[in-house]
This record gives sequence, C-alpha cells and structure tokens, in this order.
Amino acid sequence: MGHPMFEYDAVLANEVFDYCRDRLSMDPVPLDYGSLHAMPPGDMKGFIRPEGHDADEILEFFKNDLAPAVVSIDSPGFLAFIPNAPTKNSLLFDMVVACSGLNGTSWLESSGVVMAENLALEYLAELAGMPEGSGGAFVSGGSLGNLSSLTVGRDVGRTKRPNLLPHEVRYAISSDAHSSIGKALHVLGIEPLIVTTDDHRFTRASLEDAMANDPNPDSVIGVVATSGTTNAGIVDDLEGLGSYAREHDLWYHVDGAYGGAALFSPTERHLFAGLRHADSFIVDPHKWLFGPLDCCALIYRNPTIARKVLAQQAGYLDILHSSDDDHYEWNPSDFAIHLSRRARGLPFWFSLVTNGTAAYESAVQSAVDLAHRTEKKIDELDYVEMVRPISLTIVLFRRKGWTSEHYTEWSHQLLRDQIAFVTPTKWEGETVGRLAFLHPNTTDELVDQILESMAD
Ligand SMILES: Cc1ncc(COP(=O)(O)O)c(C=O)c1O
Repeated sequence: MGHPMFEYDAVLANEVFDYCRDRLSMDPVPLDYGSLHAMPPGDMKGFIRPEGHDADEILEFFKNDLAPAVVSIDSPGFLAFIPNAPTKNSLLFDMVVACSGLNGTSWLESSGVVMAENLALEYLAELAGMPEGSGGAFVSGGSLGNLSSLTVGRDVGRTKRPNLLPHEVRYAISSDAHSSIGKALHVLGIEPLIVTTDDHRFTRASLEDAMANDPNPDSVIGVVATSGTTNAGIVDDLEGLGSYAREHDLWYHVDGAYGGAALFSPTERHLFAGLRHADSFIVDPHKWLFGPLDCCALIYRNPTIARKVLAQQAGYLDILHSSDDDHYEWNPSDFAIHLSRRARGLPFWFSLVTNGTAAYESAVQSAVDLAHRTEKKIDELDYVEMVRPISLTIVLFRRKGWTSEHYTEWSHQLLRDQIAFVTPTKWEGETVGRLAFLHPNTTDELVDQILESMAD
C-alpha cells in the first residue's frame, strides 16, 4: 500500500479525460468572459484545509466558476495582444508530456526527447538560414529567451572590450523593441542605446545615425532587432542590422517571438533573409506556430559559447557535464537561465511532425491573407480607416471620431456579446483599434461583424 495521495482514481480520471475530450472537440471553443464573469461565490480560501476536499466537487467548481472566468486564448475570436492557437495534436501531446514523468533538463535523463526537441529547433534554424550546428533549447517564453540571449551576448561583448566595466557595455535597441528587452537589460544592469526610427522600423541607417551621434559608441557590444514588432507587426531591417553587426563584431540578437513564424509564409519569408546573420534568435511556438503555452524556441549560432556562459555547475550536476567538448551531451538546461525543465518543445514537435510543414505553411499564410483582406474591407468602409499599412498580421485602424473611452466600451461589449476579444492599443499617442490575427479559423464573417459593430 502506497501513500493514499498517489492512488489512481479511475472515476476521477474519466471525469478529467471527459472534460479534456469535450474541450478538444469544441469547434470553436467559447470565448468566455474573463474578469467580466461573476467572481466565484463562497470562500475559496477555505478550500485549502487539512482534510482535503472531494475531487468531484472541486472539478465541478472549476468547470462552472473558474473556467468561464477566462478569455479562451485559443478561440478564433481572440484577436487581442498576441493570441495562441494550439493545434489539437499539440494539446493532446501536451497531456502526454504531463503524464510521462519527463525531466527535459539533461541528455542523461531524457535523451530521446531531447533529440526530438533538437530536430524541431534544427528545422527552425534551417528556415532562418542559420548555419548547421546552430541550436539551443525550448524555454518558457520570449521573455526568458531574450534574457538568456542577451546575457550570452553581454558576456561575449565584455571579453571583446576588457577595458569597459561590466555595467558600461550597452546594446543598441529600437524604441519599438518588446518590453521584455528593456526588462532583460534592466536585470543585466545594462543601459540601452535606444534608437528612434522612421515609421517604427529599425534600419541600418538609423543605427548608423545613432552611433555617429553617440558620445560612447565603443560601449555598444550588440544590436537587437525585432521581427516583427508586437504592436504593429513591423519586421526590422534584418539584413542591414545584421551586416552592420558582422562588420563591427557586435552580438546580433533577433527577437522573432511573434513574427518569426512568418518564416513559414511564402509571401513574408523574404523579410527574414537577414536572419542568417543572427547570433541568437527566438520564436515562440506558443504564438504563431500553433503550440500550447508556454514555449519559446531559443537558437544560438554558436551553442558552445552560450553554454559556457549559462550552464549551471554544481557537484551534484557534474555527472551531466563532460570536460571534453568533443563528447558534449546536449543538456537543454545549459542554454538558458533555467535548470529543471518541462519538455515543452515536444507538443510543438509532435504537431509539426504529424501535421507536416505544408499544413504549417498554409495555416501561417491564412492569417497573413486575412489581414490583407481586412485592410481592403476597412478601405471600403467610410467610418474606419487604416492607421498604417499591414505588417505581417497586425491591423491597426481608426474608428473616425472615437475617443479612448469608446474603444474600451466597444471592446467590453464585444466580449459580453461573445463575438470577439479585441483590445485597443496606443499608436503615436492615439488610442486605435488593433486586430492580431493568428488563428487559421478566424473567418472573414467574424471580421465583418467586428467592423460592423463600430458603425453608428
Ligand atoms: C516581439 C515579442 N518579444 C517578446 C515577447 C515576450 O514573449 P513571452 O510573452 O512569451 O514572454 C513578446 C510577447 O508578445 C513579443 O511579441
């Protein structure tokens, strides 16, 4: 007899599997209400008590009270922030990972799984035009991918500029870089050189201009490009910035957390040619590569350098590390600021392998096509107008005559009516409408309905 907490309860298991089956078979999943849902009754704090609770009761409570207090990010009507559109296969495999007792930390513990994850990373690196031998690990999200990359770049830069004190090195970043870049530099104690850009696109010319006018350009040890920006989908001048970085021996990091997936898009992939220069690159399968939360692919051009900076050393971990680089066994934990690790790349790997790359191409492309179709529709309507042309799959548009309060009330009403989850953004100080497309099942009809809801 083992401990009662570890007994298998077949009835409860069936109820949980039934719940998952229901959820997986919904087409589409309901949006639900997030914080607009009435908060659960009763004192939830009292649930945690010495004698535990009946699992059925708590499962019912979850279904009826907690689950609707969520805006389902996998709904095709979720068009706010950056959505998530996991394939059914990726969700199913996420459950397999949960039940498999996998520790994706080291080759020793899970070599087969690490090999599968690495093949998925290798495929992405190849699409990005990075050289053979590039690699890294799947981490929890773009924020951790950026922090890990910038840490490696910082250390590499410091060895090249030994005359500078640690806090004196800087990265050149654009004013449109994602907030996680600023936060990563804050954690690292690094001041950025913030480059202001024409129409929010970071170009070689704007970088050269900023360096020429900076009192201390020698302190810049790296450049961060974005492909594409979160607010507007803009892909920076990857070729120009990358060639500048190569010529000046700077670390070149490309944050493609959202837009890097457009490497699969026949019409957009040409924008990413300059990725071949990247020292580090991230793209989130939990965004536009149809994997479940939470998962970022972090890829280094020279993984050996990255692990020399980031691998954790301790007596109890010595067995994982060989002193001989030629016989290195791949530990995903060595490539980011983490140690214990869910094999979070496996659901993406399973989805990619089972659905095939052609299905990925068409699913990614469908969001690009929908964005362009939406732009045309907006041009036809007299009460709305585009704020700027489409980049990737982000539509920034204006409802003529609206204030910020109008947008907020409209956003809440769309959610109350269970039509869509659309949130406004700020563009050059003005509140405007924003649609972020990713889900291949978002329809033209839904977009038309959203636009009609803005008419008088
Ligand atoms: C360009 C970009 N970089 C980084 C991030 C942060 O990614 P995560 O939310 O996975 O930490 C985001 C999130 O939207 C993003 O759009």
